Amino acid sequence: MPPVAKIRTPVPRQEPAARNPPPTNGEHEDGLKILFVSSECVPFAKVGGLADVVGGLSKALRRLGHDVRIIIPLYSLIDRALYGIKFVGPACVHMGAGMEHWIGLHTALLDGEVPVWFVEFDAYFGRPGIYDGPTGHYMDNAFRFALLSKAALQICKDQNFIPHIMHAHDWPTATLPVFLKTWDRVLSPLSNTASVLTIHNIGYQGVYNANVMPYLGLGAEHFTPDKFEDHGKANLLKAGVSFADALTTVSPTHAKEIIEPVGGMGLAMFLNNRRADLFGILNGVDYSQWNPATDKSISAHFTPNSLRGKAVCKAALQNHFHLEERADVPLFGVVSRFVHQKGFSLLREALPSALDNMVMQFVVLGNGDMDTENFFRYLAGAYPGRVGAHIGFSPELSHLIEAGCDFFLMPSLYEPCGLNQIYSLKYGTLPVVRATGGLDDTVQNYDEATGNGTGFKFWEPAGRALYYCIGWAVATWFDRPQHILQLRQQAMAQNFDWTVSAQHYVDVYRHALRKKLAAPA
Ligand code: ADP
Ligand code: GLC
Repeated sequence: MPPVAKIRTPVPRQEPAARNPPPTNGEHEDGLKILFVSSECVPFAKVGGLADVVGGLSKALRRLGHDVRIIIPLYSLIDRALYGIKFVGPACVHMGAGMEHWIGLHTALLDGEVPVWFVEFDAYFGRPGIYDGPTGHYMDNAFRFALLSKAALQICKDQNFIPHIMHAHDWPTATLPVFLKTWDRVLSPLSNTASVLTIHNIGYQGVYNANVMPYLGLGAEHFTPDKFEDHGKANLLKAGVSFADALTTVSPTHAKEIIEPVGGMGLAMFLNNRRADLFGILNGVDYSQWNPATDKSISAHFTPNSLRGKAVCKAALQNHFHLEERADVPLFGVVSRFVHQKGFSLLREALPSALDNMVMQFVVLGNGDMDTENFFRYLAGAYPGRVGAHIGFSPELSHLIEAGCDFFLMPSLYEPCGLNQIYSLKYGTLPVVRATGGLDDTVQNYDEATGNGTGFKFWEPAGRALYYCIGWAVATWFDRPQHILQLRQQAMAQNFDWTVSAQHYVDVYRHALRKKLAAPA
């Protein structure tokens, strides 16, 4: 019997049968029980790629034979009738300072495959938006998502689902590994459960006023620089980095970037301390949603061997944005949250001169930063028939842009992985990217001598570098059309199916379990 079982013999409050046996090397080959806890998941609630990853990875793990379930908040924007969401029952969640919250537990299946639990708590989740409301960022986000994380533990106990792994995603659920190690840990049936924290975006760390600590039920011994404390505030992601049994980020290159001072955005030293437990696993794609041969949101289907449908999609997209319907003019696209990370400073510098000097069209879908929104409104007005802008969030239109464009622009300043460039590859829409993070890992640079590659890369985070890279793509379009066709076919042949990455996650789960066994709570 491993030592972990020996020291956990006090009278259990729960049936010991509900507890998983402690893991040993090579155990659970047949299937792990895994709980994802996340603030987003497609198709229920999405702001960015986090939602796509939680949905796609959970399905892939399930197909590998693992019992995955997901917990997300029941935001008021989620259409309960559409997804057949059913009430299960109430649950009582104990926060610190004697706070008790009664939540409603609801459930539905994700794409008929993955059980999802929804946490209903109207005071926190019965509002418009996910992180932001009409007047901006919700000031009590630390409280809202701490409740979600704590509720996850209670739900597991109440529903007798005792996972081997609890998998937290980004700062909103970074307190999950903390609760798992600090809450009732000796008596809890979750005492053998290991935690994994995936850092999708280190630019968002969840730094809030230290008055959240009593609500978390954590004393001053946890408000230290190696755990929560960060310049007098509470940094939730930092605490997760300290407490999780294993850490991942979403591409191998980004795993190297975040242990360096600039890429680590204040956490490099702490991530370096956890180097042995930090893994970079490339995001995959859910090709049941993103495939031009079957996509329900596009005007015509196409494959690498039959690209006629792509020309139909391009015409439909030009039509949608009232652009000149020209098959011979290269069409560039952007779909993005309008945030600094995505390199809009570069686009704002490069696009006007590119449009002045090159034969090209441009369409954009996105929202966020108001200056950026206004810039694109201005650009559409200044270049009628050549530029189209849709300021807003539209999954349907994002598919049509992937299908109808010739080139997709992602000049990100940093990009942990990025999904749109991977979707673009599948749709034969050649990515024009800055070589950083996952963009560098997923796009192979064009070689003019041979026509090899899948897209166009530049390195310098400067508008002029983007400008020249757009110029390179436009020149290739007009001067070497046979290479454009070759690049397209090479791009469409790439396979980023989730299965391979899901297998890497299983390896990390086993690492976390071994770690837990070696150093119990
Ligand atoms: P991030 O998570 O940093 O936003 P990713 O490239 O990983 O970047 O994922 C972005 C996801 O969000 C993609 O699925 C993209 O299509 C989607 N998306 C971003 N902005 C919009 C929008 N305005 N409308 C529809 N989908 C969007
Ligand atoms: C993030 C990153 C993006 C990544 C996504 C999903 O928000 O910005 O690069 O693809 O999460 O992991």
